[in-house]
Amino acid sequence: MASMSEREALAALAWLVENGADEALEQDPVNRLAKSAAPSPAPSVEAARPAEPARERRSAFRTPEPPPVWTPPPESLATPVEGLADAETLAKGAESVEALHAALRAFEGCALKASAKNTVIGRGNPDAKLILIGEAPGANEDRLGKPFVGEAGRLLDEMLKWIGLDESNAYITNVLFWRPPGNRNPTDAELALCRPFIDRQIELMQPSLLMFLGGIAAKSMLHESRGILKLRGHWYDYQTTPGGRVIPALATLHPAYLLRQPAQKRFAWQDFLKFKQAVRESVHNS
Ligand code: URA
Repeated sequence: MASMSEREALAALAWLVENGADEALEQDPVNRLAKSAAPSPAPSVEAARPAEPARERRSAFRTPEPPPVWTPPPESLATPVEGLADAETLAKGAESVEALHAALRAFEGCALKASAKNTVIGRGNPDAKLILIGEAPGANEDRLGKPFVGEAGRLLDEMLKWIGLDESNAYITNVLFWRPPGNRNPTDAELALCRPFIDRQIELMQPSLLMFLGGIAAKSMLHESRGILKLRGHWYDYQTTPGGRVIPALATLHPAYLLRQPAQKRFAWQDFLKFKQAVRESVHNS
């Protein structure tokens, strides 16, 4: 790199700090724009053999802080959710990812569907061993029928790329399959109605790792009341049913939040690097 004056170097440093890069994450700097810095070929996690029993695998995730989470599933919601039994029957009856998606498209029990153009299910490789779960489709996603295809999706794709992931080895979905009108926050009932389909997708795909993107996803998947700034950066033991297979799940910040608060990107980078390490370990251990 051409030599810089002290003033230029300080200005560059100030610019980095302003944009959230105020912490060294790796020993050596990486020029992310240089060809030679392109990420090493994505680990072939989709080709990984089925994960070994949860207890052994969990030794790789020794910092479950806060402690592993399991709280009662949506059946315990104060008000019974109309349509939930149908959603559960449809989801449980699906014996393949394709059948599950067909069942979801046919499901009429969630009122959000009436105002949405599309049922937005997922993008990426349905055989992948990594699932990322965001919040809900926005206007672009609703129009195109795919999750994370707007500005937040572009940032998500960039971040995934730098940890060696893309649509070939990861699967991206949301905790809601229809756009809430005006992008309002989802209700507990709407989340509960989508949940059986998400859990069945997880059961059918048998991922090694999950990542929850943002507060709505993390809180609803974990039945948590704490905010994402508390939840992020920690691993949780996720189970679709009590006593079921344990899947390590990492919570992180939502890319749309990062677009609004670029100074928070440093935390997301820490989480993504943590995820990358776990991906390596899961491939290595498989
Ligand atoms: N934000 C999300 O959480 N999901 C999308 O699909 C798009 C934006």
